[in-house]
Amino acid sequence: MTEHILIAVAWPYANSRLHLGHVAGAYLPADIFARYHRMKGNHVIMVSGSDQHGTPVTIRAEAEGKTPAAVADSYHQLFQEDFKKLGISWDLFTTTHTGNHQQTAQEIFLKLLEKGYIYKQSVSQPWCAQCKRFLPDRYVEGACPLCKSAGARGDQCEQCGKPMNPAELIGARCRTCGTPPAYRESEHFFLKLSAFEEPLLRWVKSQTHWRTNVQNFTVRYLQEGLHDRAITRDIDWGVSVPLPGYEGKRLYVWFEAVIGYLSASKEWAQKSADSDAWRRFWEGDVRSYYFIGKDNIPFHTIVWPSILLGYGGLNLPFDVPANEFLTIESQKFSKSRNLAVWVSDYFERYQADPLRYLLSANMPETSDTDFSWREFVRRNNDELVSTYGNLVQRVLTFTYTRFDGVVPTPGDIDAASQALLDKAQGAFDVVDKLLSGCHFKEAIRTAMALAQEANRYLDEKAPWKAIKEDRETAATSLYVSIAVITALKTILYPFIPFSSERVQDYLGLTDALEDSGWKLTMPQPGTKLNQPQVLFAKLDESVVEEETQRMGLSTS
Ligand code: MF3
Ligand code: ZN
Repeated sequence: MTEHILIAVAWPYANSRLHLGHVAGAYLPADIFARYHRMKGNHVIMVSGSDQHGTPVTIRAEAEGKTPAAVADSYHQLFQEDFKKLGISWDLFTTTHTGNHQQTAQEIFLKLLEKGYIYKQSVSQPWCAQCKRFLPDRYVEGACPLCKSAGARGDQCEQCGKPMNPAELIGARCRTCGTPPAYRESEHFFLKLSAFEEPLLRWVKSQTHWRTNVQNFTVRYLQEGLHDRAITRDIDWGVSVPLPGYEGKRLYVWFEAVIGYLSASKEWAQKSADSDAWRRFWEGDVRSYYFIGKDNIPFHTIVWPSILLGYGGLNLPFDVPANEFLTIESQKFSKSRNLAVWVSDYFERYQADPLRYLLSANMPETSDTDFSWREFVRRNNDELVSTYGNLVQRVLTFTYTRFDGVVPTPGDIDAASQALLDKAQGAFDVVDKLLSGCHFKEAIRTAMALAQEANRYLDEKAPWKAIKEDRETAATSLYVSIAVITALKTILYPFIPFSSERVQDYLGLTDALEDSGWKLTMPQPGTKLNQPQVLFAKLDESVVEEETQRMGLSTS
């Protein structure tokens, strides 16, 4: 039965380039998941866009002396270039600044207002007497009342993920000039989160398929009591409040950005043949998966579900497989200390698949994991080149030169050959279960174990020796190895699509790889192969030294 799967991916703030943490945290797992489901024949839409509003963008614009629109637009372009190189297969990557998104957000705002889930209240807001303005969200900084880390911001603590009210910050001060804020009254709209505490707690507790960290975090959060939160700000960049008298205010960036999942689905449908097609991904018995980093958990398991519950008629998230963080050379990502690997820098020197492979094998699914250049070189050379690449190279080159460039006709399938084919079938089944449950790391490990098995089989059969005495035995082991390579390019496609496409071509298969189905397909004897090329390039050990030095670290 074909399913409809909504793959909703965190919207990156349009205020900075993408780094490997973004890739490992959300974009790569989402893309693996999308490619896998498309291959299974399911209907998938994978949507996101750049998060263009709010203080993350205005602060950046002030720093660069540009308009927020210009800043947002230039990062949006960069994101698209990065995603193309990474092979992130969006059905739509849009922005929160489209007319469609602004209308969708305003419509939801008005509906919630009408239903009493949004109400007005006058509140005291931090105000900087020096800068003569309100200090929403990131304009005020201080220490986190929960984890006590310094440099927490008025919207959220980066360190522990706690969403913040500026007044909760310890030792609050204006980000621009350092003045401790005064407080002034301002009228704002509030989302009545408290109304959803009970239903959310019941719902979250029943989500036993969620990752434990996501479920536990959410339950704990709800048990502390859910407080209503302001969803408008005194700022002039963002989605307008659709009511007269609020011209100087905008919807809070987090309130409207999460609505992006819905508005992007609508935009996707408008661009397809059927403008109602989005409903198939939001209503009824269909699943939605939200791929995000752990700092975004409360917005996706509490705020967005509250909006959806209040609005009514649309599905809550089926799963929120949030990833933990990726450290770089055992240190926390830090822009200011240059402890980051920027996607655009990476592509100046390397290809997509070695990175996709490493980040899959080392994905921060249940705990933080580390990216190091040493590991990058090791995994590329020992696993991609020596295990998988070498298998493809040995089998296809030998077949190409010694069997007239066609898939040979096998003789009787002996026990060892059958055992290997059974393992290939087994790998399809196991990886299927793992991927459908968002266990990416274990899935790629299983796939590579099959490549190792195939190498062992090949060493044992040694068709390059066998051919001297018995051409048919050699033909059989090559045929079986080609069958396993056919399986591997399929199973590995979600992870390393670029090289899988090339293997598809070497195998002489002309149909689109994504349409070839999630199944073991036996090769057709006589199929004309294309001359195989080197699949993965070996990296020189000097890469480790060179790249760590580029980050200002040393290897010793
Ligand atoms: N822009 C946010 C961040 O980078 C993520 C927003 S995801 C959203 O942390 F879709 F909910 F907006
Ligand atoms: Zn100030």
